[in-house]
Amino acid sequence: MKPATAAIHGHAVMADATGATVVPVYQTVSYAYGTAEELADVFAGSAPGYVYTRMANPTTAALEARLTELENGIGGIATASGMAAIATVALGLLKAGDEIIAGAGLFGGTISLFKNVLGRFGIKTKLTCAAEADDVARAVTDRTRLILVETISNPGMEVPDLRALAGIAERANVPLVVDNTVTTPVLVRPGDFGAAIVVHSTSKFVNGHGTAMGGAIIDTGRFDWAGGPFEDIAARSEKGGRLALLSHLRNGTGRDLGGCAAPMNSHLMLQGLETLSLRMVRHCENARALALLLRDHPAVRRVDYPGLDDSPYRSRTVEQFGGRGGALLTLGLGSQERAFRFINALRLARNVANIGDAKTLVIHLASTIFREFDVETRMRMGVNADTVRVSVGIEDIDDIKGDFECALTKL
Ligand SMILES: Cc1ncc(COP(=O)(O)O)c(C=O)c1O
Repeated sequence: MKPATAAIHGHAVMADATGATVVPVYQTVSYAYGTAEELADVFAGSAPGYVYTRMANPTTAALEARLTELENGIGGIATASGMAAIATVALGLLKAGDEIIAGAGLFGGTISLFKNVLGRFGIKTKLTCAAEADDVARAVTDRTRLILVETISNPGMEVPDLRALAGIAERANVPLVVDNTVTTPVLVRPGDFGAAIVVHSTSKFVNGHGTAMGGAIIDTGRFDWAGGPFEDIAARSEKGGRLALLSHLRNGTGRDLGGCAAPMNSHLMLQGLETLSLRMVRHCENARALALLLRDHPAVRRVDYPGLDDSPYRSRTVEQFGGRGGALLTLGLGSQERAFRFINALRLARNVANIGDAKTLVIHLASTIFREFDVETRMRMGVNADTVRVSVGIEDIDDIKGDFECALTKL
């Protein structure tokens, strides 16, 4: 099935005596068994079944199956948030002394997790320019255990060469983890370019309406866990085969961290998925039209949008995302004061710390999500004092343009 069809009919169609066309919300913590022996068998893995929603839930399983199909993976785990997905992968793979290589322009929460949380446990993170594969290659040491980039970095707006990074990861025998939140499988399936693991914040475009937090981890099947440097996962591969990582995360790290998806949220994600492909096309068209208007506007100093023809990432956008540049763009307005005045003058666009909503969203990054980073780190992330990030929604483009043009006259 093509993505637009798989997002509606993929994999998780459940046989239900009522004929319900929507996957039921199994709003339950646990699952009862008639005998002690039956439950013991399920715990031992010798019989199929659910035991506790922190490990698995039928509604969440439907979402996991559908996302796995969309990413062309071998299996997946849905989590409580995008951060829970990234934390579960990192803590499931790494130990003290290990090194991560990450793009400097990544989402601030990911960098904070790596530097501030994992750093306290002796895991080091090297920030590199993800768009320069040579920089990433130079950062590899015999302690590197994971390379993580975003398809389009939020907010750095860099587009890495996924195939080149997958080659570097393969030579180092470590997994390339790609955060596909911003592009979604409608624009790119990172596994097709060699990524080993795909992570998502489904709170964004997958959900599409800002109604639920969620995340996901998909194993693309590209990494040989039996031959990798992760001893406990390699040991699991004797029984779990290619599903060793997912078994390690579901029945180990993920279970023990407790960042499971809520069944109601999984239902909202399944609903969001049904319109994802339509929305992504509209998001991209609107973002490109707005980027063109802003690029030529005298009050705007800078526009970063990979879907523009003069973007340095144009050819990668064509090769990897079919020419679509996503919904995010950043603009520079000359000073923080002008950026604030602009945001305060907008009437349609909402001033919020989120992306991927049907609504157009804006935020001044340096004073909000990125305020905890020092100026030098912020600049490496592509966040200047005058930067405004826009997540372009799916409203009529004339109304979005009108709102921005009107606000720019107030500068
Ligand atoms: C690219 C990216 N990855 C991960 C996250 C974290 O996701 P969540 O907010 O669902 O924890 C975000 C949040 O903005 C993000 O933009």
